[in-house]
Parts: sequence; structure tokens; C-alpha cells
Amino acid sequence: MAAGTAGIRCPAAVSRRRGGPALWWDRRVTDTALLSRLRADTPGCLTQVHLNNAGSALPPSVVLDAVTAHLRREAEIGGYEAAAEADDRLQSVYSSLGRLVGAPASSIALTSSATDSFLRAFLSVPFEAGDRVLVAQAEYASNVIPVLQASRRLGITVEAIPDGADGALDPEALRGMLDERVKLVSIVHAPSHNGLLNPAEAVGQVLRASGSATLEDAFVALLGSAEGLEA
Ligand SMILES: Cc1ncc(COP(=O)(O)O)c(C=O)c1O
Repeated sequence: MAAGTAGIRCPAAVSRRRGGPALWWDRRVTDTALLSRLRADTPGCLTQVHLNNAGSALPPSVVLDAVTAHLRREAEIGGYEAAAEADDRLQSVYSSLGRLVGAPASSIALTSSATDSFLRAFLSVPFEAGDRVLVAQAEYASNVIPVLQASRRLGITVEAIPDGADGALDPEALRGMLDERVKLVSIVHAPSHNGLLNPAEAVGQVLRASGSATLEDAFVALLGSAEGLEA
């Protein structure tokens, strides 16, 4: 998040197409002054229109400066020494991410990518043969392919939760699939390959009463807001 914008929640409007699901690209920042500040803070915006923000957004100045300054420091004094020198700032990342998602700093783990995070969480579940794993229809490929591979080794089944008439995951269909053998429910909140916005909050409400672990891929969804994560 850009230094100039830290702590600011973007006022966003989400429009719902008639009869269709909510799409995350329908989110619009409505505060034009904030938008201008965000653009001014992102050097790439000065020279081009870059639309692939779901896959990898243009870094704002504060990210560019922090990363290049740290690399320079590593070149000057060594990687471990530069990490020790930056320790206070590194630790504060855990508390700022915790504030973003409504969790204590001790519950935050940082990894090299969304796929890496997902797999670490998935593989930490103590599966036994016969367990069921429920996934969203629009599950992200880099998550679900290793899940399918692991299912063969572990003797667990992977089942897709049906979508509703609007094309988004149907929380009531999920409710109907739950039983004591469901060990994990994994949903992708905002799949970047199709723009869908799955109803994470309603899913959270259905699962709160069940004993299954829940894994939410909130990549992209977090770019807009942390809504649904509290569920
Ligand atoms: C919803 C979603 N999950 C996971 C990923 C994978 O991210 P990464 O390249 O950080 O592993 C992406 C990438 O675009 C994504 O959109």
C-alpha cells in the first residue's frame, strides 16, 4: 500500500449486473481526489494505461523505493545484516496486515506467492483417507491442480460446490453438501480469470456452524477490500 495512502480505505461502489453475479472489476473507486493521488503515487501510470492489476499491479513509489533501497543495502552490507537492520520495519508488516484483515499479527504468515500460501495452508490440514474437500467451481488453477494431485496420494475426495443461477458459488448448495467427512472447504473469493466475486461472507456464515476448516483465497479480493475475511 502506498505511504501516502496508508490506512485509507478506498470508497468503492460494487454494481451488480441484472441477473448476473457480482464481478470484482465492477468495483469502482468513487473518490476522484484519492484516485488522482494514487495515480500520482504510481510512476507507471504517468506513461501508460495498465489494466492487468489482478495479475500484477504497477508498484507505487513507496514499494519501488523500499525494494531498491533494500537491495542496495544488501549489496553494501550483506543479506542477513540488511535483514537484521530492517527487522523493526519487517515486524511492523505483520501488524499492518493484521489490521487489514482483522487478525492479530501472530496469525499472519508471509510467503513468496499466493500459490505458496495456499499450499502451505492446505498441506497443514491433517487429512485422513475418506476425508472430503469441497472447492469452488471457479477455483484458481494453481491452487486446485496440486489439491487434485494430493487427493490421489492422501485418499481424499475433491468435490466442486455448485454455482447458483447467477453463476456465483451457491451457499445453500454448500450447506447441503456438509457432513462430518468434510475436512476442508476451499473457496476463491475473487477469481482473477473470470472476474467473479464469490459470496465469501455468506459462505463464512454457513461454515461457522460446521466443524470444517475453511481456506479462502482472498488474492485480488484484498486489492479491493477485506470484506468477507472476518466471516
Ligand atoms: C485468485 C488467485 N489466486 C492465486 C493466484 C496465484 O498467485 P501467485 O502468482 O502469487 O501464486 C492468482 C494470480 O493471479 C489469483 O488471481
